[in-house]
Amino acid sequence: MATPIIATRLVPADEEGIAETARVLRSGGLAAIPTETVYGLACDATDPHAVAKLYAAKGRPSFNPLIAHVPDVEAAQRVGRFSPTASALAHAFWPGPLTLVVPAIEEATSPLARAGLSSVAIRVPAHPVAQAVLRAADRPIAAPSANRSGHVSPTTAGHVMADLLGAIDLVLDAGPAAVGVESTILDCTGDIPAMLRPGGLAREEIEAVLGHALAVPERVTDDETPQAPGMLASHYAPSVPVRLMAEQLRAGEALLTFGGQALHGAPPVRTRDLSPEGDLVEAAANLYAYLRELDAPGVSGIAVVGLPAHGLGEAIADRLRRAAAPR
Ligand code: TXA
Ligand code: MG
Repeated sequence: MATPIIATRLVPADEEGIAETARVLRSGGLAAIPTETVYGLACDATDPHAVAKLYAAKGRPSFNPLIAHVPDVEAAQRVGRFSPTASALAHAFWPGPLTLVVPAIEEATSPLARAGLSSVAIRVPAHPVAQAVLRAADRPIAAPSANRSGHVSPTTAGHVMADLLGAIDLVLDAGPAAVGVESTILDCTGDIPAMLRPGGLAREEIEAVLGHALAVPERVTDDETPQAPGMLASHYAPSVPVRLMAEQLRAGEALLTFGGQALHGAPPVRTRDLSPEGDLVEAAANLYAYLRELDAPGVSGIAVVGLPAHGLGEAIADRLRRAAAPR
């Protein structure tokens, strides 16, 4: 059955817009909301019908567990069971760009939102608009990135409209996302937390709080194939090929650079510098918007320079690797 086309409203993130978004969520609708990482496609995580609609709107090829968003640590403890270590991480980094996977309190979210798992991914976003929506909705909110499956994650309301117009009820516009890459996901179901996905909170900061290194996960988290160990499916992908660690530009290529680096070879069709000053936080914030801007008519491919690997460089490298993976 084809998904019906619905009128998608673009609403400013003022008091009325926030109240309207909460009404949409409480009545089982789909609303894209701003968070500090990327825009999320939100629905009531306790409502299996809403969750099923959300999977359909994104066009996810298989049901994949969603992150439950809540406004604070107390609300999180009603959704999952926190070990002392998970609790310490929650208190250190929430609200913020960190998602913790913990054993689920099964009746707190729909099994469909967890894709039948006995664990649940929980995040407390810092964005004041996300906070206001979560408090007004007053229930766990499932929110994957608000893009069609396999596309680049949205960091503006315009990106969301480009992907999901006609498929969702509302987009709450609060301007560009500050962090620009998704949250870091830690599996806290074992003895030592493992990083399932690098993201907006750097490994170094987490390890400083833990006092030791993170564990290596048995499998990495991947939107398309959550159960496949270490698989790097093509994801976060522009429509043209992406070439990493480029040293020479080829004819027709656009250049995604960092810290003012220029490349020899053919002149770039377009250029974006993720951070002329060489700041990885700024680079993360610009990454998805620049990938979209370079994915333009007349561009045959995107050449990307090498970037530093520390701090948010780990998340940037992960997303670029996926963007460059064979399709
Ligand atoms: O920054 C973010 O995390 C954004 C914003 C909107 O909050 N959300 C986001 O959601 O990136 P999504 O659905 O695109 O990515 C969530 C990832 C998926 O790869 C999923 O497999 C993983 O979290 N995940 C969810 N529940 C899990 C669980 N119980 N165990 C392992 N991985 C899980
Ligand atoms: Mg996603």
